[in-house]
Order: sequence, then C-alpha cells, then structure tokens
Amino acid sequence: MTPPPAPSATTPATTPVGRSRPRRSCLAVPGSSPRFLEKAQGLPADQVFLDLEDACAPLAKPDARHTIVKALNEGDWTGKTRVVRVNDWTTEWTYRDVITVVEGAGQNLDCVMLPKVQDAQQIVALDLLLTQIERTMGFEVGRIGIEAQIENAKGLVNVDAIAAASPRTETIIFGPADFMASVNMRTLVVGEQPPGYPADAYHYILMKLLMAARTHDLQVIDGPYLQIRNVDGFREVAGRAAALGYDGKWVLHPGQIDAANEVFSPAQEDYDHAELILDAYAFHTSEAGGRKGSVMLGDEMIDEASRKMALVIAGKGRAAGL
Ligand code: GLV
Ligand code: MG
Repeated sequence: MTPPPAPSATTPATTPVGRSRPRRSCLAVPGSSPRFLEKAQGLPADQVFLDLEDACAPLAKPDARHTIVKALNEGDWTGKTRVVRVNDWTTEWTYRDVITVVEGAGQNLDCVMLPKVQDAQQIVALDLLLTQIERTMGFEVGRIGIEAQIENAKGLVNVDAIAAASPRTETIIFGPADFMASVNMRTLVVGEQPPGYPADAYHYILMKLLMAARTHDLQVIDGPYLQIRNVDGFREVAGRAAALGYDGKWVLHPGQIDAANEVFSPAQEDYDHAELILDAYAFHTSEAGGRKGSVMLGDEMIDEASRKMALVIAGKGRAAGL
C-alpha cells in the first residue's frame, strides 16, 4: 500500500478567496495610535494594515503590539481586509510581533505583511511560525495569509522565488521609499520620478513585480505616495500602476482613499463594454449563434482572447459594484 504523503513543512493552500480580496485602497495605520486605529474603522478603504514597522517608533513597538491586538478584537472592521505589518526578519522584533499579534488576535486577522523581504526563506520562516501558532491556539491552519513587501534590490532579484515560497502568500507589494534608498536613487520625493531621468524610473520594477505575482496567481499592490495633499499627483501615479494591471495602492491619508478606489475600478463605460463583449461572444459561439470563433462587435473583431480581456475588466467592475 502506498503510504500517505508526509505532512508538508509548510501548510495547506490558503483559499483563492485571499487572493481575490478587494485591495484597491490599502490604508496604513500606525499601530501605536489608538486614535488612528479607531478612526480607520470608519473609512472606506478596502484594506487596513496596522503598522508595527516604520510608522511605529522603536520604543513604542512593545506597547503597540497590544494596542493592535485590542483594536483587532474589539473594533468593528466589517468589510475590510485586516492586516498587520510586522518588522522585517533582520530586526530583533519580528518573532515577538508575530507571536503577540497572532496569538492575541489571530481569529480577527486576515494577513500578516512582511516588509523588506529579501529571499524565499524569509517567507517560509513566517509560514512556519504562523503554522505553529495556529496549531497551538487551535486556529484553522493556513487561514492567515502573507503579504510580501519588496523594498530592495535583493528582494526584486529574488521576487519569483519569494512569490512561490508559500501557499499563504496573497500579494506582492512594492515599497518605493525603501527601494529608492536601497538602490541609491537620487530623489527625496517618494512616488515621484527622480529628477534628471527622462523616462519612468519605476517601469522595470513595477513590471517585474507584476510578472512574478501573476505567474503565481497573486495580487500586486503599489506602495505609498507621500505628497498626501496632492490628490491629482496621487491619481496620476496610481493610474500608471492601474493601467499596468495592479490591483491597488497604499493610501496614507483618508483623502487618498476615494481616489484609489476609483482609479483601481474600471470606468463605467469600460465595464459596460466588457459586459457587452462577454454577451456577444457567448451568443455567437453558442449553437444558436452559429458556433463562430470570432465575430464583429461594431467595428471591432472579438475572439477568445477578447473574452479573456473582457473578463478582467468585468470581474473588477462587478467586484466594485458597477
Ligand atoms: C513602504 O514601506 C516603502 O518603503 O515605500
Ligand atoms: Mg518601507
């Protein structure tokens, strides 16, 4: 008799649900601030991430872990994906961040975000730690997802292996501020192009993250835009990522949330057109429609590839309630 397969070192696959959560707007909330944690609950962001990393001063981190546990357990986060960003594995804080938050509020947490991921082993380590905590606490094993933030050259070079490292991983995130610093890019304005470079300095990075994410069926999220009063600038930068196919962007201020939700949803007319393509294609390929492979819709020829493109827009539009 063939023995049953040995238990995996990691965990069973997380549900595809995790990889299709709305993440158009991902709101950063300092984990050390009960006031911001309270306020965030009433804002229309698709996702909130309660931050133990760079928005939290080193001396505030130990208390912030407990402030976050309380906010997750006692707050009303209905309709939002709940994420905690822990500190990266090169610090002394990561394990205690994960243990305190997941033991204390694992039932009310959707994902752990790991910043400055540099290789696949860092994801595997987080996966193993989560699995142990889930088993110890009697939680469903594998339910808590991972969000991997790519913020330096090494992470970018290894992003394909990072994206494949754990079935828990739901999304890859670009961290432009740390990334620009790590490659010595000559600018101080996060999210804007470095002065003196005549093209898009982020194109290669954004595309590489997108390819790795899609190869492994993950979502992909653009990072912050720090000029929080410049909503037009935010829209422009967000629009570039949305056009490439990104699923959403970080927001640092309530004023950026509506813009992100709008930019990462299809325009109504594009959504209507996508539904029209799907209907027309379904009819013309059917028995009644003559089982055709490609057909004309107005001036446009549509075929199976057009159907796939339309499905992307229609899927996003339906999720946005258009
Ligand atoms: C976000 O963490 C960034 O570094 O841009
Ligand atoms: Mg960062």
